[in-house]
Amino acid sequence: MKIVTKSKTITDNLEAKSFIEKYGLYADFWQPESADMSITDPLIRYKNQIQKLKEKFGYKSADVVELNPNTPNLDGILKKFVSVHHHTDDEVRFTILGEGIFGIDPLTDPTFEIYVQPGDLLVVPANTMHWFDLTEEKTIKCIRVFKDNPKWEAIYERPSVTVKG
Ligand SMILES: [Fe+2]
Repeated sequence: MKIVTKSKTITDNLEAKSFIEKYGLYADFWQPESADMSITDPLIRYKNQIQKLKEKFGYKSADVVELNPNTPNLDGILKKFVSVHHHTDDEVRFTILGEGIFGIDPLTDPTFEIYVQPGDLLVVPANTMHWFDLTEEKTIKCIRVFKDNPKWEAIYERPSVTVKG
């Protein structure tokens, strides 16, 4: 996780965590629970961590989504999220691969950017003003977690849940 403010860049995960928690956001850093790389379904690879997160914040469901340069209408999808907006549910993302940028407008302080990278869990609480963009690779795969089934317009167009048979 990396934080970029107008005056500084924070690359240390724990420093980044304490910075964003001052603004009511939450971060954690997950390792896969099993070294068994044959488990390809992220919802199984991170099963216990997801379960603990659900218990901690009262979340109920989770899915896996991916955006990459082959995603149909990628620019159109991103266009919706690069403007400042908020949601009535928390926006919860655990990044599995790729990278994304969450911009945060705390209203009382200058805006800052959070670069989410593989292993980073980020919770942007309901009603937090924020935006989202991809970095140059235009690729992110992440687990989303919800209090209810997603009520807002889907952020990612194409769910890509892979269940190992
Ligand atoms: Fe959002």
